[in-house]
Amino acid sequence: MMNIIFLGPPGVGKGTIAAMTSEKFKIPHISTGDLLRESRKNQTALGKEAEKYMDAGELVPDKLIINLIKERFKEPDCKDGFLLDGFPRTMDQAVMLEEVVPIDHVFDFYASEDTLMERLTGRRTCRNCNHVFNIYTAKPKKEGVCDLCGGELYERADQKPEVVRNRLHVYKQVTKPLENYYESIIHLIEAEASPTEIFAKVVSILE
Ligand code: AP5
Repeated sequence: MMNIIFLGPPGVGKGTIAAMTSEKFKIPHISTGDLLRESRKNQTALGKEAEKYMDAGELVPDKLIINLIKERFKEPDCKDGFLLDGFPRTMDQAVMLEEVVPIDHVFDFYASEDTLMERLTGRRTCRNCNHVFNIYTAKPKKEGVCDLCGGELYERADQKPEVVRNRLHVYKQVTKPLENYYESIIHLIEAEASPTEIFAKVVSILE
C-alpha cells in the first residue's frame, strides 16, 4: 500500500516521472489534468465547465475537482495505493484528501523557470494515449506521431507562453504553500536532470 502525491510547477515533469513510477510500482497514475482533458474531449458537463479555467491557466473550482477525485477513488485499482499527479493543489483539496485517505510520501519537484518554459513550449502529447514527448528533449521517432500507439501528437492549449506565465503565478500563490502542510512527509527533488536520473531518485526513496 503506497499513497503518493507529486507536487511541483507546470512543466517540471510530474507526468513524465509519474508514468514511470506507476509502471514500476504497479499503482494507478491519477492525473486530475488528464481526467479534466478527458471530460473536455467527451464534452461532459464537468468538461464544459472546466474549459474556461484551464484555457486561462486558472484552477478549476475545488467543488468540481473534489467530486472528480472522489469518483476516481471508487475505482477498484485504487485499493492498493495510488499516485496523485496535480492533486491536491489547494488547501481545501488537501484537507479533503486527508479526510479520505492517509498519504505516505509527497515528492516536490523543482526546476528553474527557463527550464519549465522550454519543457512546456516543446511538449507534444498523444491525443490517443496521452504519452508525452518533447521536441527538444524527448523527440518522437516520426514528427507528429506517437511512438507507442501511432496517435496524433498535439500542443495543449495551456502551453502558450502567456497562459504558462499565469499557471506559474497561480502555482506560487496557491499550490506551493502546500509544502508546509506536508512538511513531515515531503521529499524535495531537484528536476533539472534527465527523466531517468530523476526517476532513480524517486525509486531510491520508495525502495
Ligand atoms: P495539469 O495537466 O495537471 O498540468 P500541470 O500540473 O500544470 O503540469 P503539466 O502537465 O503542464 O506538466 P508536468 O509537470 O506534468 O510535466 P510533463 O511531464 O508534461 O493541469 C492542467 C490544468 O488543469 C490546470 O492549469 C488547472 O486548470 C486544471 N487542474 C488540474 N488539476 C487541478 C486541481 N487539482 N485543481 C484545480 N484545477 C486543476 O513534462 C513537460 C515536458 O517536459 C514534456 O514535453 C516532457 O517530455 C519534458 N520533460 C519532462 N521531464 C523532463 C526532464 N527531466 N528533462 C527534459 N525534459 C523533460
